[in-house]
Amino acid sequence: MLTLRGEGISGQFIRKRKDSNVFYAVEKTDFELPPGTMTVLSGESGSGKSTLLHMLAGLLRPTEGKVLLGDNDLYSLDDKPLSILRSRHIGLVPQGQTPLMALTVKENILLPCTLYRQKDRDGAVDREKLAEELMERTGIADLRDVLPKELSGGELRRMAIARALIMDPDVILADEPTGDLDDENTEIVLGLFKEQAGKGKAVFLVTHDRDTFAYADRRFTMRSGKIEAVRDEA
Ligand SMILES: Nc1ncnc2c1ncn2[C@@H]1O[C@H](COP(=O)(O)OP(=O)(O)O)[C@@H](O)[C@H]1O
Ligand SMILES: [Mg+2]
Repeated sequence: MLTLRGEGISGQFIRKRKDSNVFYAVEKTDFELPPGTMTVLSGESGSGKSTLLHMLAGLLRPTEGKVLLGDNDLYSLDDKPLSILRSRHIGLVPQGQTPLMALTVKENILLPCTLYRQKDRDGAVDREKLAEELMERTGIADLRDVLPKELSGGELRRMAIARALIMDPDVILADEPTGDLDDENTEIVLGLFKEQAGKGKAVFLVTHDRDTFAYADRRFTMRSGKIEAVRDEA
């Protein structure tokens, strides 16, 4: 399993303010996601959580520093090798909803395999079967042939979670994955993420859902772009 590591990364945006035209959404930090560990980051809205997650995901070039997936320096790669690497190793659950509206639930879940099929690797894994299993686990199996426009927010979220796991990634990055789930589904989804960490994957959840904290192996909070480790309260 690969470790995902931000080395001296910061995220600066341009925004007009009195004293300066730039501000740090994420202040310079080292941040590592170890395999086999569920890491939870919480913090108020606007504190920089999604910015950090996007930088780690290979979607947003940090203002300074590097993001390493194993030995690969993500932002030194061209677009194509970067997307291939991301699709094989990083499962992303975005904060917003991003279904392809013309595809069914099952087709949406299998989309990463359709886009980035690798003969050698895929030969050993039955993705169809894995899709069925993931739909079963997340309680959307009956919706397999339904189009996204007929789904609730919570059902779309669970579909996105299944899609993030379909390539069996080393690293799972989830931005507010339980925000639109009821208590029962929150428990199911957190259990599924915890199980992924148990299989040796690095799981990173960004959330303000307190239910998530009990599942965390490591906890951090973020305030105005600064990350702090949370000590065990127990
Ligand atoms: N593309 C952008 N350009 C300028 N400012 C941005 C951009 N994206 C986010 N921000 C700002 O950066 C700060 C952190 O945003 P974000 O990382 O989305 O926070 P969180 O996920 O914790 O709610 C916020 O003040 C937000 O308005
Ligand atoms: Mg956010």
